Amino acid sequence: MAADQISFARGAPSLDIVDVEGLKAAAVAAFDADPAGVTAYGTSVGYLPLREWLANRHGVSPDEILITNGSMQAGAFLFDSIVSSGTPVVVERPTYDRTLLGLKRRGAHIHTVDLDSQGIIVEQLEDLIASGVKPALVHVIPNFHNPAGCTLPLDRRTRLVELAREHGFVLFEDDPYRDVRFEGEPLPTMLDIDRDMPGEGGVVIHASSFTKTVCPGVRVGWLAGPTSLIGPIRNLATGTYIAPGMVAQGLVNEFILSGAFDRSVASVSKALGERVATLVDSLRRELPTAEFVVPKGGYFLWLRLPGADGVELAKVAANQGVAIVPGADFMDEGGEEYIRLAYSAANVAEIEEGVTRLARAARELGVG
Ligand SMILES: Cc1ncc(COP(=O)(O)O)c(C=O)c1O
Repeated sequence: MAADQISFARGAPSLDIVDVEGLKAAAVAAFDADPAGVTAYGTSVGYLPLREWLANRHGVSPDEILITNGSMQAGAFLFDSIVSSGTPVVVERPTYDRTLLGLKRRGAHIHTVDLDSQGIIVEQLEDLIASGVKPALVHVIPNFHNPAGCTLPLDRRTRLVELAREHGFVLFEDDPYRDVRFEGEPLPTMLDIDRDMPGEGGVVIHASSFTKTVCPGVRVGWLAGPTSLIGPIRNLATGTYIAPGMVAQGLVNEFILSGAFDRSVASVSKALGERVATLVDSLRRELPTAEFVVPKGGYFLWLRLPGADGVELAKVAANQGVAIVPGADFMDEGGEEYIRLAYSAANVAEIEEGVTRLARAARELGVG
């Protein structure tokens, strides 16, 4: 393995796009502004000023917000409150690998629905339901999907909310990439759609975090959704840790108040947009048979290399000094010809060199 390994494997920001100075200043400001609040246990739902900001952002009441130590924890609480051995759930194929693992660990009966270039194929979900499957939970990553990079159009979002209402399942909107956008306008969340649609709703629970816009180390994520779903999770959270880390939440709150959050969203999005442009140019030059949709936001490019075995390619690529994740990691079966390339952890120069190494690995295997 080369000493100067380049990582296309890590879905985390490189240090140069983390506002370390802004975070330091926000930490000081948090202790100055609210020493009692940030040093106390707090409550399981999280730090009130930050909950109020999030509530305002989602157009819900603070009672409908529960802050967690990262959105993975939010998902874990939701699974613990809904999923047990044999519970029917639906996930996308491919999906976030940790979602798949978390559901398997809880013994869920997992059904999968394929994605096309725009996201989950809703007709396939309808067919599954028509065949007699009664999911308790449907997990969807609507924006700049991990790993597939796609974004779900409005009509499909609306139809999913309608289906959740009709068939009584919880629609889990797992949405950490929404703000990392290189072009276009944001679409309404399914939480928004459910709230604005006439009739009885309360079927969507939305999860997100500051991981992809500020940094993973703050470990601040949240759930936004109806109190009927948040209530039981509140009790689970109390029994797990009494409260999520108040110092981190106070810091994030001050980071937002100072304007650093908006600046960070803009600078991360700009940097990642530049990286995608380099990645796409390099791939077209070095791996002309590779097929992919150019991401319009987020952290990932999902690449099909006809004839490739992604697991083998990952091994040979590691020896050439570049880390990638095989597509098979993101689904129960299939995905052999796919790999996921994260462009968040490597800078522009590293991306060019990383693709050269990847192409060398592909040639070694007779593909690309
Ligand atoms: C779709 C999705 N959900 C949840 C997470 C968890 O992120 P965090 O716990 O850092 O908020 C990730 C991280 O990569 C992700 O891609």
